[in-house]
Order: sequence, then C-alpha cells, then structure tokens
Amino acid sequence: MAELLPDGIGTLLDIGCGSGLELDTVFQRFPSLQVTGIDLSEKMLDRLVQKHGGRALTVIQEDYFLHPFESAHFDAAVSFQTLHHFSAEKKTQLFSKLYGSLKPGGVYLECDYVAKTQEIETLCASECERRRLRDGITSDRSIHFDTPLTLEHEIQSMKAAGFGQVEVVGYLPGDDHTPMIRALK
Ligand SMILES: C[S@@+](CC[C@H](N)C(=O)[O-])C[C@H]1O[C@@H](n2cnc3c(N)ncnc32)[C@H](O)[C@@H]1O
Repeated sequence: MAELLPDGIGTLLDIGCGSGLELDTVFQRFPSLQVTGIDLSEKMLDRLVQKHGGRALTVIQEDYFLHPFESAHFDAAVSFQTLHHFSAEKKTQLFSKLYGSLKPGGVYLECDYVAKTQEIETLCASECERRRLRDGITSDRSIHFDTPLTLEHEIQSMKAAGFGQVEVVGYLPGDDHTPMIRALK
C-alpha cells in the first residue's frame, strides 16, 4: 500500500487505522506526511500514538460513517481490512464522503477481502441477518460479523460514489481474494 501511494503526497486519511500496521511502512516512505487516522477503538489508537506519536499524526476516535471529513483536503485516503462488515449501500455512502474529502486527482487505496462468489456474499449477508433477528440485535447496533461483497460489487459501490477510474492493482501475496483496489478522483 505504501508503495502504491503517489510520489509527493502531503496529506493522508486512514479510515479504520487501528494500531496502524499499514502506517508503519507509509511513514517509512513519507516521514513528513500529515496523517489523519480514524478508528472506533481507543486502545488501538493508543498503540498507534505510542508507535508514531512523533509524526504529524492526528487521531480521531469515532465511527467513520458519522464523522464529517474535511472537504477536498486529502491527497490520498486508505483503508486496510476494515470494510468487510458493511453493505453496498453503507459503503457507497462512505465512499461518497471519501470522494468529497479528496482533492481533485486524489487517490483512494483499499485492501480488504472479498467474497469469491455471489453465493458467498448472499450467504454471509443472510446469516448475519438471521442471527441479528434471532438475538434481537437491531440494525443501528454494530456487530462483528463478516459480510464481504464480491469484487464486482465492491467496485460498483466505489463507482456509484463518484470515483471514475477504479482498478485492481494487486493481491496480498499468496492470496487470491484480498485485492488492492485503487480508485481515482
Ligand atoms: C482488522 S482492524 C485493521 C486495523 C488497521 N487498518 C490495520 O490493518 O492494522 C479493523 C479496524 O477497523 C475499525 N473499525 C471498524 N468499524 C469502524 C467504524 N465504523 N468506524 C471506525 N473504525 C472502525 C476497528 O476498530 C479496527 O481497529
């Protein structure tokens, strides 16, 4: 992910940054980069700050679906392994916000695992719904249950949010279902 970021970027948004494994190599390549990381987990953010507190790093403990990102502020945005719990509709809303937060020509890189078939996408979503109903968990409450989309639907959600050029630029080594997707504003 660090290698795929364009030369010369000055500002980066990392949604679901957690303790920031991806940021370790990003800061190696761009030591002066201004990074905004957002995550729900205070403990994960504490770890991130312990590691990279000396950098130009701003952390926000909030739900990235609710936080209003600054408009046309970032040269690039990334997400690593944080979006495989959400529906296409929710993702399109989030991608629209990401699109708005990028400067013209900005890039969004996403690495996350996808459902290899439509059957798997449908099965995961319906099983999640079945368990929510069984346990009386309403849709406004977050739960940790993986509901990955197919690659086709992931890309469609980005395009529906406004990204013009969206392409797969690689896969995690030794794995054929965790693509690195690059979307350009
Ligand atoms: C598997 S971790 C990945 C962390 C980091 N990107 C990495 O690869 O090291 C997923 C992270 O997404 C965060 N997350 C999940 N849903 C979120 C939401 N709605 N808003 C903010 N953070 C969220 C979790 O708290 C968790 O830290």
